[in-house]
Amino acid sequence: MIYVNEQNKEFHLTNGQISYVFRVMEETNILEQLYYGSAIQHYESFDFMIEREIRPSNNWKWGSHLTSFEHIKQEFPVFGSSDFREPAIDIEYPAGDHISHFEFQHYTIRAGKTVDGGLPGSFGGEQEVETLAIVLKDLYSELYVTLHYHLYLNLPIVTRQQVIDNRGNETVVINRIHSLSLDIPDSGYDWIHLDGAWARETIMARDKIHSGIQNVSSTRGASSHVHNPFLAICEETTTNSQGNAYGFSLIYSGNFLAQIEKDTYNVLRIQLGINPHQFRWKLDAGTQFQTPEAIIVFSQAGLNSMSQSFHQFFSTHVIRSPWKKKEKPILINNWEATYFDFTEERLLEIAQASKRMGIEMFVLDDGWFGSRNNDNGSLGNWQPDYKKLPNGIQGISQKIHDLGLKFGLWFEPEMVSKDTAIYLDHPEWVIGNAEKNRSHGRNQFVLDFGNPEVVEAIFEQVNRVLATAEIEYIKVDMNRYLSEVYSAILPADQQGEVAHRYILGVYRFFEKIIANYPDLLIESCAGGGARFDPGMLYYSPQIWTSDDTDAVERLKIQTGASLVYPLTAISSHVSAVPNHQVGRVTSLEMRKNVALFGTFGYELNPLALSNEEQAQIAKQIAQYKRYQQLINLGTFYRLETESANFVSWLVINEEKTEALVGFYQILAEPNSPYRRIKLAGLDETKDYQVYENDQLKEAKRNGSDLQSYGIRLGGNFIGREQEYWSRELPGDFHSKLYFLKAIEMASK
Ligand code: DGJ
Repeated sequence: MIYVNEQNKEFHLTNGQISYVFRVMEETNILEQLYYGSAIQHYESFDFMIEREIRPSNNWKWGSHLTSFEHIKQEFPVFGSSDFREPAIDIEYPAGDHISHFEFQHYTIRAGKTVDGGLPGSFGGEQEVETLAIVLKDLYSELYVTLHYHLYLNLPIVTRQQVIDNRGNETVVINRIHSLSLDIPDSGYDWIHLDGAWARETIMARDKIHSGIQNVSSTRGASSHVHNPFLAICEETTTNSQGNAYGFSLIYSGNFLAQIEKDTYNVLRIQLGINPHQFRWKLDAGTQFQTPEAIIVFSQAGLNSMSQSFHQFFSTHVIRSPWKKKEKPILINNWEATYFDFTEERLLEIAQASKRMGIEMFVLDDGWFGSRNNDNGSLGNWQPDYKKLPNGIQGISQKIHDLGLKFGLWFEPEMVSKDTAIYLDHPEWVIGNAEKNRSHGRNQFVLDFGNPEVVEAIFEQVNRVLATAEIEYIKVDMNRYLSEVYSAILPADQQGEVAHRYILGVYRFFEKIIANYPDLLIESCAGGGARFDPGMLYYSPQIWTSDDTDAVERLKIQTGASLVYPLTAISSHVSAVPNHQVGRVTSLEMRKNVALFGTFGYELNPLALSNEEQAQIAKQIAQYKRYQQLINLGTFYRLETESANFVSWLVINEEKTEALVGFYQILAEPNSPYRRIKLAGLDETKDYQVYENDQLKEAKRNGSDLQSYGIRLGGNFIGREQEYWSRELPGDFHSKLYFLKAIEMASK
């Protein structure tokens, strides 16, 4: 519901879960932020929220001591006219100044939301989302900015996006325009972010918010392995299960900034948007610029509840693939099994053995095209390597289908190698200034996807492959960042647009694929998780989370990813041991129990496994299939554990009749204390049967005591259950899987 107090020019967006209140400020006509948080009742006037003191320092209005913007919480601040904090917008005018003043003009309200303008975004029907559009006009020019507020009616979520429209007759330059700027009064918050590097992405970090600026960002042309376009603020006492938390995310895959500025009056200015670093957009007369969309989630019940809102939101309102809630085929990917070294015969042997174990799709990764026997060449030449695949992609796809498997294929469309025709014929298609050095990454260069001709040419090649063979899935990879950012097709005064135009081109490429192959299952990837972001989710319902497939490392990586992203998006594979990234040996059981909490698959050579291991995998697949819908559609919880040596996850269905619990111990302990794992999210009025690794462990336990007392861990985790001299110790890296079934269901 969006209330407007016409007389006081106040806006109140509320849906019973959250309230967002702001007003048009007297004398200055700017938007003043009043409140964002848990739902409050509607008042005829929100005057009681206005914070105003005589401030004799800089005041915007002559003669007034009440218009000092640095003391006023705002919705769309500018810099320099009495506010010295970070602005939401920075315009450079023809005279060279940066002086703006955006005043309220009018508003509209409408139901429903669609996505337009070439950027990914959220969508919802008329019963699901209401939009308030506030039009502001610059006092000094014909620049109009529309602030779009989208209130999702069944979730504690508002999204924001701005469109700037130059209706004047002079060009201006946008140096910055954030998607979101929100001033929140501080009460000693922590902030949470997801950090990492290649092979250790989305590691959760939590720090105290200090005075001044703190941020996470990317300048790498992709959202990056290093940071994720997400941050949360929460009270110091907030845990997974209790306390207030505000989550912020950006539907964007390029250079972003997610920032908190704590000012000297204890106000937090939260901003998310395109990274202003080297961004410079020439806004000609008569043109518009649209920002990416930012998401704000509020939770009163801790970080799990915040994550669940994000999950539901992405699953319902951002992921558009028809696969989003469907049972996806269990795949095997040949990358770690063969790397570049394969023949059709070898692949078919792997596929055959996979089929015997119950695998449903064979994915051919890197190395099938050009003459790519290592990572030195052939990117940009998307012709099958007939030496490896005498019958081309069509031939192998046919043979894979004949085995009763679906077929998937890898591409890296944005890249080019030096030994290809497109590199030699079109040096101007490569990002970088031909007069200067271009750094290489993985021996390759980045194509200028900001150039529509490039997107067209690559799409044509990819399309030729997709159109001629039966392909149900593609993995779209991107293995290096943008450096020496420069486009040969843009003039000097538009070089600040290259990185954003690049990502718009990437989105255009995905649009073309989807328009031509609407049922194709797309997995996006960027050297593991360098583009694990909501922008990519709009096009691909699953994302390769990390090149690190080690089960222990994945506990951290997937826990971090789950803070924002639903399990269906978190692509996770069981791989070989010793693990190829860290050399660790973990049991097949542990690897499966970790990969299970995601989009499950295998990435190993079944021919290198013993018959027992192959039989074990067959059982794992049958088990996963039993739980697949529960994992896909269920609500996910990170359970509290006593230390980082333990991790526990739970997923429960909507009716709360079935739940799956994973419990993981990293290092073994001698003579350890008794332990219990306390569950969450159960129906306290229901009794459950508890199965441990598919064996009935407890015939009847109440939902309430499973949460307060928990499940007592025994056997593998403590050394008292068997006589110690005859006992086989499980050692490090151990896991258990519990399945809970409500009793009335169990008897059916
Ligand atoms: C990086 C990806 O993350 C891997 O899964 C694999 O596809 C390689 N690229 C192939 O080059």
